[in-house]
Amino acid sequence: MHKNRFSKVGYILAIAGSAIGLGNIWKFPYITGANGGGAFVLVFLLAVFSIGISIFLAEIILGKIVKKDAVTTFETLAPKNHKYLKYIGFSFITGVLIISFYPIVIAWILHYIVLSFESLPNSVSSAESYFNNYISFSLASQIFYFSLVFFSIAFIISKGIKEGIEKLNNSLIPALFLIFLFMLLYSFTLDGFSKAFTFMFYPDFENFNTSSILVAVGHAFFCLSVGVATILTYSSSISDDTHILKATVFVVIMDILTAFVSGLIIFSIIFSADASPDKGAGLVFITLPAIFYEMGAAGTVFAIAFFIALAFAAITSAVSMVEPAVMYLIERRGFKRLKATLTICISAYILGLVAILSMSNEFSTYLSFAGKNIFDILDFLTSAILMPLGGIAIALFVGYIMDKEQVKNALKPYMGEILFACWLFVLRYLTPIFIFALMLKEIGILNF
Ligand code: PHE
Repeated sequence: MHKNRFSKVGYILAIAGSAIGLGNIWKFPYITGANGGGAFVLVFLLAVFSIGISIFLAEIILGKIVKKDAVTTFETLAPKNHKYLKYIGFSFITGVLIISFYPIVIAWILHYIVLSFESLPNSVSSAESYFNNYISFSLASQIFYFSLVFFSIAFIISKGIKEGIEKLNNSLIPALFLIFLFMLLYSFTLDGFSKAFTFMFYPDFENFNTSSILVAVGHAFFCLSVGVATILTYSSSISDDTHILKATVFVVIMDILTAFVSGLIIFSIIFSADASPDKGAGLVFITLPAIFYEMGAAGTVFAIAFFIALAFAAITSAVSMVEPAVMYLIERRGFKRLKATLTICISAYILGLVAILSMSNEFSTYLSFAGKNIFDILDFLTSAILMPLGGIAIALFVGYIMDKEQVKNALKPYMGEILFACWLFVLRYLTPIFIFALMLKEIGILNF
């Protein structure tokens, strides 16, 4: 038995740390910008509060009941002649794929922290060429920061649940909230704040189309870390007195609030400088740095605080992607924690290096497929396909295959009959129908 459990607060901060990450602070604002603002936010909210939260809770009870790695969990709970369902547990491989490219963005963030201390580019166009040049030509610098990130992740994971993961989240997550609070208070004073508010919360359906729905649902999965056995694995170390429903609601609300606050901060700054909100992935690395430069000394402080907060959020999520695979190797394959950590981290590290090379000027032609580099392919494969698939598998398993009494008993202490019925309805019907339809549309079989 590996149990070494989280404390009550430690568990909540750990699942919050996993959920709150680049998805909220970096990706949410730019995809909101690209998909028309308020209407997108509305669909995202609906997805989070129906499908997202239901699968989140399903993963928690799976982890809590069996208290083992993901594969053992599905094997234990599957009916006798359906033990092959243990393969659902291998959804942790999606986490290993994400951890190969996610730290590349953390590497850029670390570079931008250093750059904020030195000097930021002085206009959007120079910031744009700076960022593009950095990705295309500065291989050594990217690999240096990328290696540093992996080394830190491996160090934390090798220390285990209490000494590594819990300690990390206990300090970084409150620090992140504090930095964000100050930045939000500052953005209230900016001219662009009210415009940012309207942009994010007024549903304008003009720039919104059906593929925005797919983006919103896929992003709900990504933001909540569901479908990759992360929440399940963390929950296998939950303490018995944790109120799982309260923990879920708290974490989901904090997760959304962080995304909203990040959007408000970024768009307030952008609208105050009359810049455009739809710069795509470059919003944080191109538009913002140029505006920070214009803001003078305050901008430098802001830039450093912002990138540090981003790094904190990202590292706590990154750690949570590795743990499910590590836990599997320890519990099913008899690895020692250090060996398991190194096996997973080194494999992901090598894949990540290839992804870095695939964006570089020198190697991009050899390492691109159908016009997409490996970074984009991994991003698309994991968040648009594998995470939703993992989510459906969990929903179907808990909704149809697991013993209903067992599911009910696991939730009875925390919710009444009606809420339970709603939750089951979402898992059984809404989730599969919705996600299948959207995925068929994505691969071109359905058209709406
Ligand atoms: N939820 C994290 C984010 O928003 C990403 C993540 C995905 C973390 C899957 C763990 C597992 O950035």
